[in-house]
Amino acid sequence: MNELARKLNDDLITHNSNVYDLLSNLGKKLYYPQGILSQSAEASKKATRFNATIGIATEKNMPMHFEHIQETLQSYSPVDIYPYAPPSGKLELRLEWKKKLLRENPSLVDKSIGLPITTNALTHGLSLAADLFVDENDAIILPDKFWGNYQHIFHIRRGAKLKTFMLFDEFGKFNVSAFRERLLEQKDTGKAIVLLNFPNNPTGYTPGEEEVKGIISVVKGAAEAGINVVVILDDAYFGLFYGDSVKESLFGSLTELHPKILPIKVDGPTKETYVWGLRVGFITFASESPEILEILEQKTRGLIRGTISSSSHLSQTIVLNSLQSIEFDIEKHEKFEVMKRRAIKVKEIVSQEIYKKVWGFYPFNSGYFMCLKLLNVDAEKLRLHLLDEYGVGTIAINATDLRIAFSCVEEEDIEELFKLIYSGINEVMTKEVENNV
Ligand SMILES: Cc1ncc(COP(=O)(O)O)c(C=O)c1O
Repeated sequence: MNELARKLNDDLITHNSNVYDLLSNLGKKLYYPQGILSQSAEASKKATRFNATIGIATEKNMPMHFEHIQETLQSYSPVDIYPYAPPSGKLELRLEWKKKLLRENPSLVDKSIGLPITTNALTHGLSLAADLFVDENDAIILPDKFWGNYQHIFHIRRGAKLKTFMLFDEFGKFNVSAFRERLLEQKDTGKAIVLLNFPNNPTGYTPGEEEVKGIISVVKGAAEAGINVVVILDDAYFGLFYGDSVKESLFGSLTELHPKILPIKVDGPTKETYVWGLRVGFITFASESPEILEILEQKTRGLIRGTISSSSHLSQTIVLNSLQSIEFDIEKHEKFEVMKRRAIKVKEIVSQEIYKKVWGFYPFNSGYFMCLKLLNVDAEKLRLHLLDEYGVGTIAINATDLRIAFSCVEEEDIEELFKLIYSGINEVMTKEVENNV
């Protein structure tokens, strides 16, 4: 093993050996090399005469660039577009995102969290967490309603076993006891990776205060029972809370809860502020020990350096300018209101008496989606029928569940959308009766 990695691991063991035990084999091998990037960072401070270090080109004290590109990006200086951003992200952006985290999550104030590390959006942040902490056959404990890409990120790429529990209990609340049961099954191995995503994709659910207390006590109970727990919070749709749910990330309550619990927040502006294609996100660690936060950052930086090297500088600049602009809060609020009105309208429509014979729906109060539970027809058959007959696109999650992204449907079109789905259901049912005669 590389000497620097060995040193990081020794320091981890000194400060909290549980965190060392949680690392994957790859995570243990990771370190940040003192190669070109650190020499060049040093030179950028001290080399006042000639800086012949880094692999970009310069001209007249500016990054070399094509004028025909720069003409299209007049609002930004070439220094904020063309040079490589640091592997862990543009410092100003990281500081700005941390400020936002503290503003929006009062329970984090005065707690010890790292500086958010920039990622190439959330998929990449989740993937970094998986590389750092997941080995073949490790258990990922997550609700049975989850974003399909977790299969690739955690199972296909890292060989983890996805162990699900029922998201909802019989009252339509977060199923705290099912979660407890699943998590405590990890007592034998002593390691668990919990993956929670609120607002949830595909259901659009975020739990309320009491349920969150239950979740936190389950994680604490597992730690007290001797299990080392990484809790990955996929906060992709953070902030889009329209109803009676909590309005903070669980990150705040999990931070400094127990030495055997390592909370990781994965988030970003992609969904929150509607910049999906800019590919900017963050991974933030929480630990009472500043040394551990530094070691985890070094390992994450090494991982980024060895995969994507760094995220788009231009995208980071655009996101930073947006966060610092006076229009940010105003436009964010405007879009929130649009999404909230749609969610309220959807609830009003899908709850109508006429539809009760053909569907139920999972509780929803947040995010981009809601999920119908079909009572009479197969979701995939219906999905294809709606596409072919009506040009209506939906997502079949499994045999009964049909996900509707109301984020993509104007408020005035919502009624018609569900009428078409209703017609589609009746037609599929009729076809099935005819085929059986
Ligand atoms: C729950 C959840 N997490 C993460 C992502 C990925 O987000 P990003 O586009 O930032 O990679 C998605 C995207 O659909 C998602 O639904």
